[in-house]
Amino acid sequence: MTVVIVTEAEYKKGQATFVNTPEMTFVPASNEETFLAAAIREANARYVILGHAQYNDDLYRALPPGSVLARFGVGHDGIDKGKATAAGILCTNTPGTLDDSVAEHTVALLLAISRKLLPMTAAMRRGIWDQELGQEVRGSKIAVIGAGPIGRRVAAMTSAGFGMRVALCDRARAGKKTYEIPGVSVVESYEEAVADADFVSMHIPGTKENLHFLDCERLSKLRANSWLINTSRGSIVDEVALYDLLARGSIAGAALDVFTVEPYVPSAPDKDLRTLDDVILTPHVGSYTAAAVRRMAERALRNVQMAMEGRYGEMDLLNPGVLEHLKSGL
Ligand code: GLV
Repeated sequence: MTVVIVTEAEYKKGQATFVNTPEMTFVPASNEETFLAAAIREANARYVILGHAQYNDDLYRALPPGSVLARFGVGHDGIDKGKATAAGILCTNTPGTLDDSVAEHTVALLLAISRKLLPMTAAMRRGIWDQELGQEVRGSKIAVIGAGPIGRRVAAMTSAGFGMRVALCDRARAGKKTYEIPGVSVVESYEEAVADADFVSMHIPGTKENLHFLDCERLSKLRANSWLINTSRGSIVDEVALYDLLARGSIAGAALDVFTVEPYVPSAPDKDLRTLDDVILTPHVGSYTAAAVRRMAERALRNVQMAMEGRYGEMDLLNPGVLEHLKSGL
């Protein structure tokens, strides 16, 4: 029986799909690299379905050439594709499975901010009937930073759905725009996008190049009345700089679904984002909907099945160069 090692959180999320695949045995394992590698070695496994944690070292020594690391999700910043390729490991993700869910969560945060849902709920729990003046989003401006599938979805939803003014910042594809979203202006510079924005929503991947993309300097370009929304990756924000900015009241607030360390640990002990007002926090649930979870489980499983059948061309391969390595026997 084929053994598939699955990191615990993903095992729980995908269980309904996994139980319908009786020809494979799914074994839950810790997402911590040393324990995950030990579980792989113990089971002699070749197939691993895993979350978005960082894997830097032992994992790539625990798997034999031709084995599969299948991300249960889209972001693959946690996988070292160079090390995987050198070890002959095929890496995949699940493109297109979660775009709507993450975009919808972004919009949920946007509306929670503009209609002040959290302070009113907190007040009512204390027995206080305090009507907070809301803000209609129609006509206000959102800067969507990152024009991948999720950023484009957010741009389309906020433009067509709410009549917001949308500046979609597409730095990666500067000058090579291949899409058109009605009512959305595409700009190439971050500074231009955020200049007069009421909301700034981040949708760039957690690559090394994007580490602390929002540093002091870029954060300082946000207006005093603007809100930051981040549903992409915590690593793109310097959380200490963000804390300082919020504590000084230099921006209106932040709605964060992703953090440098997850579960959240403050980047500095005295800069705990949870202690600030005007910060909305959710525990990385942008893609955590029943529909997206099912699609991710099915797609990750399909990638494993395609590898088992040697149908590499049908996989969502993140490191296609690995096929050459495998052909040349490493
Ligand atoms: C979730 O954050 C993912 O990248 O899949």
